[in-house]
Amino acid sequence: MIGLDLVVGGGGFIGSHVVEGLLAEGRQVRVLDDFSTGHAHNLDGLDCQVMEGDAAEESTARAAAADVERIFHLGARPSVPWSFEFPELAEQANYQTTLSLIAAAQHHGIRRLVFSSSSAIYGDAPKLPKAENMQPAPQSPYAEHKLQGEVALAAAAKDFGLESVSLRYFNVFGPRQDPSSPYSGVISLFARWLHEGKNPTFYGDGLQTRDFVFVKDVVRANLAAASVPLSTPARILNIGCGRSVSILDLWATLCRVAGKETGEPHFLPARQGDVRHSCASIARAQQELGFQPQFTLEQGLALTLGFPQP
Ligand SMILES: NC(=O)c1ccc[n+]([C@@H]2O[C@H](COP(=O)([O-])OP(=O)(O)OC[C@H]3O[C@@H](n4cnc5c(N)ncnc54)[C@H](O)[C@@H]3O)[C@@H](O)[C@H]2O)c1
Repeated sequence: MIGLDLVVGGGGFIGSHVVEGLLAEGRQVRVLDDFSTGHAHNLDGLDCQVMEGDAAEESTARAAAADVERIFHLGARPSVPWSFEFPELAEQANYQTTLSLIAAAQHHGIRRLVFSSSSAIYGDAPKLPKAENMQPAPQSPYAEHKLQGEVALAAAAKDFGLESVSLRYFNVFGPRQDPSSPYSGVISLFARWLHEGKNPTFYGDGLQTRDFVFVKDVVRANLAAASVPLSTPARILNIGCGRSVSILDLWATLCRVAGKETGEPHFLPARQGDVRHSCASIARAQQELGFQPQFTLEQGLALTLGFPQP
């Protein structure tokens, strides 16, 4: 009998790639998604069960988790501005979902949960690279809710032995990403400018840096996190490339990949609250998951551009 996995948020950008990865491993997959930011069409052609519902509701989470061996929890509203605007709704989507899934795991005796956490937990502490043992400094309800989720998972490990891995993603990019995503929306935007032959516009000097990681590498991290033996029952691991690139360099790389000129740049005032630099230490994920990104930025961009842009 092939094991069944639950992918919460499986209709989303990263979630749909996780579904694909699990199916390729021969697993059975059930998706629970309320399609608030995800899309049913992201699952076209994928042989999985789909339940439409809100994972924050305990009864829904419990029903979705029946007969499941492992839970991949990617369900969230991944928007910092939205979490400021609607903090209560954000708490439901970004924290209550985690609590409901923990309760469902306890009810069904599910052994392991892989949680999509976020590098937003580090805030803009200047120290680089960001390592998991740094003091969290969440600066938004979104980041706060992700941190609370990690804390709840640590408590669940103590209370009833739930094994969990919280993966703190940096800037994930790839096909099917939402162009308005605060993490990697810039890539969709740049791709659109390239397509329309526009010159680029940058906030600030364009020298702010980000750690972009291709979605297929994030899938590999999820699959490993669900199966490797854990050194302690509630692990927290950064998932990035371990290298950062400036936004100006990102534009230049994208132009190179597309075989286009970079054009005359236009600079706008820096956006308030923008983190200046971000880069992950991935030493812990390397050690615990054998995680090593396999896609270069160029390869990932070429694969991303090969798909129709939204
Ligand atoms: N994209 C990134 O770079 C990035 C970085 C850090 C963390 N993350 C986290 O990774 C996960 C996936 O992000 P993504 O970029 O694929 O975003 P996404 O918006 O494409 O995916 C989130 C999915 O969760 C679903 N969802 C939201 N609330 C739900 C609820 N209450 N019940 C059931 N489903 C619900 C949405 O409909 C969507 O399908 C999120 O948890 C996000 O916070 C993403």
